[in-house]
Amino acid sequence: CRVRNYKFNVVTRNTTRLCASKPIVTVNGKFPGPTLYAREDDTVLVKVVNHVKYNVSIHWHGVRQIRTGWSDGPAYITQCPIQPGQSFVYNFTITGQRGTLLWHAHILWLRATVHGAIVILPKLGVPYPFPAPHKEVVVILAEWWKSDTENVINEALKSGLAPNVSDAHTINGNPGPVSNCTSQGGFTLRVQTGKTYLLRIINAALNEELFFKIAGHKLTVVEVDATYIKPFTIDTIIIAPGQTTNALITADQNSGKYLIAASPFMDSPIAVDNATATATVHYAGTLANAATTLTVPPPQNATQVANKFINALKSLNSKKFPANVPLTVDHNLLFTVGLGINPCPTCKAGNGSRAVASINNVTFVMPTTALLQAHFFKTKGVFTTDFPGKPPHVFNYTGTPPASLATNNGTKVYRLKYNETVQLVLQDTGIIAPENHPVHLHGFNFFVVGRGLGNYNPKKDQKSFNLVDPAERNTVGVPSGGWTAIRFRADNPGVWFMHCHLEVHTTWGLKMAFLVDNGKGPSESLLPPPSDLPKC
Ligand code: C2O
Repeated sequence: CRVRNYKFNVVTRNTTRLCASKPIVTVNGKFPGPTLYAREDDTVLVKVVNHVKYNVSIHWHGVRQIRTGWSDGPAYITQCPIQPGQSFVYNFTITGQRGTLLWHAHILWLRATVHGAIVILPKLGVPYPFPAPHKEVVVILAEWWKSDTENVINEALKSGLAPNVSDAHTINGNPGPVSNCTSQGGFTLRVQTGKTYLLRIINAALNEELFFKIAGHKLTVVEVDATYIKPFTIDTIIIAPGQTTNALITADQNSGKYLIAASPFMDSPIAVDNATATATVHYAGTLANAATTLTVPPPQNATQVANKFINALKSLNSKKFPANVPLTVDHNLLFTVGLGINPCPTCKAGNGSRAVASINNVTFVMPTTALLQAHFFKTKGVFTTDFPGKPPHVFNYTGTPPASLATNNGTKVYRLKYNETVQLVLQDTGIIAPENHPVHLHGFNFFVVGRGLGNYNPKKDQKSFNLVDPAERNTVGVPSGGWTAIRFRADNPGVWFMHCHLEVHTTWGLKMAFLVDNGKGPSESLLPPPSDLPKC
């Protein structure tokens, strides 16, 4: 194993998309940002230097950060932000992981443009558990707003209403050839007949789950969220913000150009967003002006298409890569995730109320100092440890909304002892409207042991849990009007954020944190903070 050094200069760069330019915050001037390469067991040092007017922090989404919570990145959770003119060196070791992940800014809405791929190769000499591809290609899906994204969210918070949806989706930074501004071309995947390519697909969008498909080709899915799965072949992938999917594509046509399409999946009756991002598969020897074979993206309410993909996901669970699902449970938790409305006298457009989101009716309030520091230095008054393990009052979660739609504010964490096991059922609520919530847990992978529609019924539903080969992930969709059950072992000391990875829901308060105490052994404790850790 070796040490990999990176320098991330956070700089503003004028960038043109949809026939117009605007200044955006980037890493090293790039959109999407640079790919971070490492091998399993490597140590990664990333010096982040903040040259912009905003506070900044970077999260290494899905990297487990065993004992190094200080380098996890969510602002005010594990660190104070890096202030303008300041820098911080993120320092972590990749332990027991290989595959595709992503890094992104974890403050304000900066991750709209501050994101990139993390490619973790297996240890030297260790092959993939699938045939070696001819080439590997990173494919980052994201969103583009014509206006400044910080303004988009600030206006929404002032009004109390939902923010505008993006003006385009992008594939590797570009809306693509089939957009209103065709002169910009788009991403081209160049292939040779007969060869196989590994696509490392990342959804870095702020607010949209996306379908991904390629005209005339099938995809063989081999990995999600940097964990191997039993390979399966499918037409269309569904991928939520924060998720990653590795898929093999074989160039089994003789020649031609084929459309790649990324289009929104909105399993919610209220949102409307039709923008499809496009790119092209181009066979060697095909003329540049040849016609492109098109594909029709699934309609945005194509729940069946999404379910077909989700239901096919199973851990590889081989001898080399066993699925170590916790079979006993120390904490049996039920968290409702959903939207609500709180009073807001200054919100004129919202008629004196504002949209909020909550977990177990708690709308998380960001502290002004980082939780991890407060925990480590035993600073009182920053957070409380009374996050409820069950909803405060039972109601028909997916049926008639309760009388009061208001939520409680708080900076509450749920406390776990080192190595305890957790079963957590995430239950969507239909308080305003049922909606898919891709929930991301920092610091851990979890097993997705069950999923269903309607209200979770412990007696009945628990019987059908898959404790043998469930998919292992760091971000999972809670289905609209339904529930998802996960299990994990709290074997990583620290303070670990959990939130909906739709950024608008995070902003509205759909977030909480687990506090995991140190274990008894010397290798089970959080390491001391680095000396350059930013101050608030
Ligand atoms: Cu990818 Cu807390 O986020």
